[in-house]
Amino acid sequence: MAEKKPTYYITTPIYYPSGKLHIGNSYTTIAVDAEARYRRLMGNDVFFLTGTDEHGQKIEEKAESLGLDPKTYVDQMATQIKDLWKLLEVSNDKFIRTTDKDHEAAVQAIFEQLLAQGDIYKGRYEGWYSVDDEEFFTESQLAEVFHDAQGNVTGGKAPSGHEVVWTDEESYFFKMSKYADWLLNYYKTHPDFLIPSTRMNEMIKNFLEPGLEDLSVSRTSYKWGVPVKSDPRHVIYVWIDALSNYITALGYDGKDSTNFEKFWPANVQVVGKEIVRFHAIYWPIMLHALGLPLPEHIVGHGWLLMKNGKMSKSKGNVIYPETLVERYGLDALRYYLLKAMPFGNDGLFTPEDFVDKINYDLANDLGNLLNRTVAMVNKYFKGSVPVFESGVNGPDMDLEQTATDTISRYHELMASLHYADALSAIWRLVARTNKYIDETEPWVLAKAEKAGDDRRLAAAMSHLVASLRVIALLLQPIMTHAPKAILGQLGLSTEPEDMQIQQLSLADLPAKVQVVAKGTPIFPRLDAKAEIDFIQAQMTQSDKQKGRAAMAAAADSQWEPENVTLDLTKSAIKFEDFDQVEIKVAQIIEVKPVEGADKLLQFRLDAGDQQNRQILSGIHEWYPDYQKLTGKKVLAVTNLKPRKMRGQISQGMLLSTEHEGQVTLVIVPDELNNGDILG
Ligand code: MSP
Repeated sequence: MAEKKPTYYITTPIYYPSGKLHIGNSYTTIAVDAEARYRRLMGNDVFFLTGTDEHGQKIEEKAESLGLDPKTYVDQMATQIKDLWKLLEVSNDKFIRTTDKDHEAAVQAIFEQLLAQGDIYKGRYEGWYSVDDEEFFTESQLAEVFHDAQGNVTGGKAPSGHEVVWTDEESYFFKMSKYADWLLNYYKTHPDFLIPSTRMNEMIKNFLEPGLEDLSVSRTSYKWGVPVKSDPRHVIYVWIDALSNYITALGYDGKDSTNFEKFWPANVQVVGKEIVRFHAIYWPIMLHALGLPLPEHIVGHGWLLMKNGKMSKSKGNVIYPETLVERYGLDALRYYLLKAMPFGNDGLFTPEDFVDKINYDLANDLGNLLNRTVAMVNKYFKGSVPVFESGVNGPDMDLEQTATDTISRYHELMASLHYADALSAIWRLVARTNKYIDETEPWVLAKAEKAGDDRRLAAAMSHLVASLRVIALLLQPIMTHAPKAILGQLGLSTEPEDMQIQQLSLADLPAKVQVVAKGTPIFPRLDAKAEIDFIQAQMTQSDKQKGRAAMAAAADSQWEPENVTLDLTKSAIKFEDFDQVEIKVAQIIEVKPVEGADKLLQFRLDAGDQQNRQILSGIHEWYPDYQKLTGKKVLAVTNLKPRKMRGQISQGMLLSTEHEGQVTLVIVPDELNNGDILG
């Protein structure tokens, strides 16, 4: 009977499909992918789960703003996210969507069980709610509180900066308070349940010690969610729905629970720091209430920050992984993300650092080592790698020792998800190997070879090839192309059975190896200035193109169906405020009056979008001959939240001028392209 491999279950959070994912979200997935790949190489039977968190008010509103029903919207987004993971060569074993029917059924059953047990009860929720964070706050938890002239609280902002709204509705609650002591005790007896340990202290100090409040777990104010089976006016609040994915994906409470029995409890669940609370407090309590064992570790990682803070569209500092992969290759991105984020802490993305890491670490240190090695083996031994022999050259033993130390340190670090440190360890070996060339001076040894002694030169070459082999093998969880490219240039096998890393040493170098006749750079050197400018431009452009949700909300209140011309207020506004408005060149494809609304004209426009855009404008009285407008190019504000007017959706606003009561559309020259952005 075949030996049973130890199982290993690892998960990412499931992503909100509320917008295009950026390199910050990609970090979480790539980090988990690296661990899954590492564990497979170490002989584990791995199950790697990722997916999408598709319910909730935020998604419902986003879909509505695009004029789509939520299901159509999340279907499109899930496809987009799956495509991204394919591009990043993410090796997940399953992609769960919270709209999967079996997941929904299992969530309903979980809710009913907790209700029947008395862990969930019905009450009323009164408090501040942030739609963006899908989270409730007490007044004291708010980062900012707004008051009216009488000093009454009228609103505020969550710690994330998102606005909160007052909510008062019937809701089911989970009796978290009942389990607070149990959880505190669990933390004490399992000190590495939540890592890094600083996060555990935060949980204790901020949430458990002040007293855990019961959690609202249902809503009646929106529909896009899993209905409570016994009370379908309520939908199950996103976190109960979302957290359950980690067990429903394995078939918990479903038809086939083989995977659940095989893989649960998870070994590691990786999450960003802002959602540690849900995973280290609510999730263990939920599992405990269901009588299930807890995951071995929850790992809370930091954020990938930009110079001006967290990546966000409204700050114009978003960078998308597709852009970087297309231009610099996948390995460069995977290497960068895992190197730039120290374990548990925040990392900083700058175009300068990204380009530097490619140029110095990859092109220079690693790439040149390979080029020089291949060139020397060709020059001195006609491409044929000499048999590995130890202790011939002075620095041989030291290089071998560095390799041995690197390998054991690497395993320790990879097993605990310390990728940046694991990469530093590998690069110490890279540096040691480069130094080995300087020390042995093969070009000097080559002269001795002519004098009849080639042992030292042979040992030098085999050490270089052996070291590069180890480096390539260790890089496999991080990079998906370079390891094979390196082994290929060295003439080494890339068959999976020859790429195992469980037993590794320099001395394992296979015999009769022939390097390629001419190596090619695996990481070409970049023109630093040009590439920094390129990345910088992408960051600004992506912001402009994608529109800004914040602006849509602000514009909401200004939209009056009967008054659609822009009212330019005289007071000064900040540049950033103006920069929030997205104005595009749009060509009028069709224009007609709106039935029953004598002031309104209905425009169909090509603003460079995939589909035509419809905008209603109250300018009929100034354009009795509206047909003449067809084909003209005008300016449209395109990131306003769409509005319904007279039963018709309007996706933006046309710019016009007003002079002594006469309103005129701003017509722009034909040579401007549809979709061009004003700015
Ligand atoms: N849907 C919830 C998770 C539910 S899990 C049961 C969610 N989704 S999210 O799309 O907002 O975030 C998913 C992950 O992306 C989180 O781990 C979050 O920390 C991570 N990141 C988002 N921006 C990030 C950075 N800038 N840097 C690093 N990680 C970031 O929360």
